[in-house]
Amino acid sequence: MPAELKQDFAVMTRIVISLVAMVLAASAIAVELTDAQRAEIAERIQPVGEVCLQGDADCGGAAAAVASGPRSGEEVYNSACMACHTTGAGGAPVLGDVAAWADRIAKGTEVLYVSGVQGVPGTGMIAKGGCMNCSDEEIHAAVDYMIAGSQ
Ligand code: HEC
Repeated sequence: MPAELKQDFAVMTRIVISLVAMVLAASAIAVELTDAQRAEIAERIQPVGEVCLQGDADCGGAAAAVASGPRSGEEVYNSACMACHTTGAGGAPVLGDVAAWADRIAKGTEVLYVSGVQGVPGTGMIAKGGCMNCSDEEIHAAVDYMIAGSQ
């Protein structure tokens, strides 16, 4: 190869190498993510549900909830009944209003349990006060709590 051609070839090689280096550098930048972005992506692509076996240490949320037993009457009242029975919305007898509760309590606790679980047809008192994940026992406890606080 003549010397001049050799030099041209060397220059071209250098140009090609630097082009390749630039492309590589650009692609390296493209995949560089912060930890926060990585966490965000992991959250977005995680499966909708997770199979969780009872006793699993790392996903025992549901098992723990079951283990903690039924909610107390006060807890159920505060989460499911309060909206109407603290404000009197739609004619709901207000907790602590002795006069409003006297005739109802006179019907007997069992009758009020049925009203709590099945609702009072034609009124704002819907079945279980709308708490469809409440057990009958939890509703009974809430009714007990309301009776105890209203006489
Ligand atoms: C959306 C409003 C609303 C919610 C929520 C609600 N109630 Fe009521 N509740 C009413 C109304 C209105 C009445 C009055 C019905 C009537 O006219 O006898 C009533 C009446 C009752 C009575 C008396 C029924 C009777 O036979 O005299 C009981 C007991 C009762 N509710 C329990 C509950 C419990 C327990 C919860 C929560 C788990 C709850 N309610 C949530 C609106 C509500």
